[in-house]
Amino acid sequence: MSEWIPGSEVARGATAVITRGAPGTVVKTFNADLPRIAVALEVAGTQAAMAAGLPCAELLAADVDGNPPSLTFAFVEGEPLAHRIASAGAGEVGRVLADLQHQVRSIANPQAIPIEEFLGFQLAQAPLPEPLRAAAQHDLARLTGSAERVLCHMDLHDMNVLWSGRGKEARPVLIDWTNAAAGPPEADVARTRMLIANEKYYVQDEQSGLAGMAAATHLNRLLTAFIDRTEQLVPGLVGASRAWDRVIAAARLDERPPAAERDAILSRFAR
Ligand SMILES: Nc1ncnc2c1ncn2[C@@H]1O[C@H](COP(=O)(O)OP(=O)(O)OP(=O)(O)O)[C@@H](O)[C@H]1O
Ligand SMILES: [Mg+2]
Repeated sequence: MSEWIPGSEVARGATAVITRGAPGTVVKTFNADLPRIAVALEVAGTQAAMAAGLPCAELLAADVDGNPPSLTFAFVEGEPLAHRIASAGAGEVGRVLADLQHQVRSIANPQAIPIEEFLGFQLAQAPLPEPLRAAAQHDLARLTGSAERVLCHMDLHDMNVLWSGRGKEARPVLIDWTNAAAGPPEADVARTRMLIANEKYYVQDEQSGLAGMAAATHLNRLLTAFIDRTEQLVPGLVGASRAWDRVIAAARLDERPPAAERDAILSRFAR
């Protein structure tokens, strides 16, 4: 490993910058405009995951009232799961995601924020045509009314999993619990299906080392493997998750996706 210089940047994500802290730790400093509720979700979600013994980066300290807020995590040495598409294959990456999500949903009644709080918040402020907003809010109320509650990561994709350790010891570690919530398991499946399907709107070769057509083929394979494995683990869950598609897509517009992704969502759901 290269020399550990506290304060040096590890990565810059959509919601935060990650810098090295004291040796063995990283500090996630949130963008000033990120709603505070997302910080609360990440704290509660990570703590629920830690309490359940899930493979996650340990939360060591939280400054939720800071300006900007920041969280300190144990450093996880490894590469994003997305980088393993070329070496392990897209199918294997899809199955790893499905298996991880299955572990996460095994945690019943977690001490996490109810899913309708965050999705409701996103739906209220997303730039949406009003009929779509109303329809999605209606779906959300209907789908959460008397539903079971499990831990949902709600941002499970191949850049939010770090592949850590070597050889037989290597294992996936789930990071970035900024959208985590207590909700029905179908919601988490729907969100991951959408995230993988919409990865095509991002520059592919940056993430996976694969360019153009190859990236599109690999993403299709990844999605198929994720769906097939999920179906194998819980028959019927993928089909049931489709009831969440409109809510998840509408809430996604609050995250300022690329224009092509936004247009695709609107042409599918805002008719
Ligand atoms: N505990 C950790 N150990 C090592 N690297 C980490 C850790 N947490 C985050 N990182 C690195 O920082 C990147 C961004 O982290 P994270 O996904 O939490 O931020 P984000 O801003 O929410 O990202 P996104 O772009 O998904 O919104 C990760 O992809 C990873 O490379
Ligand atoms: Mg992330």
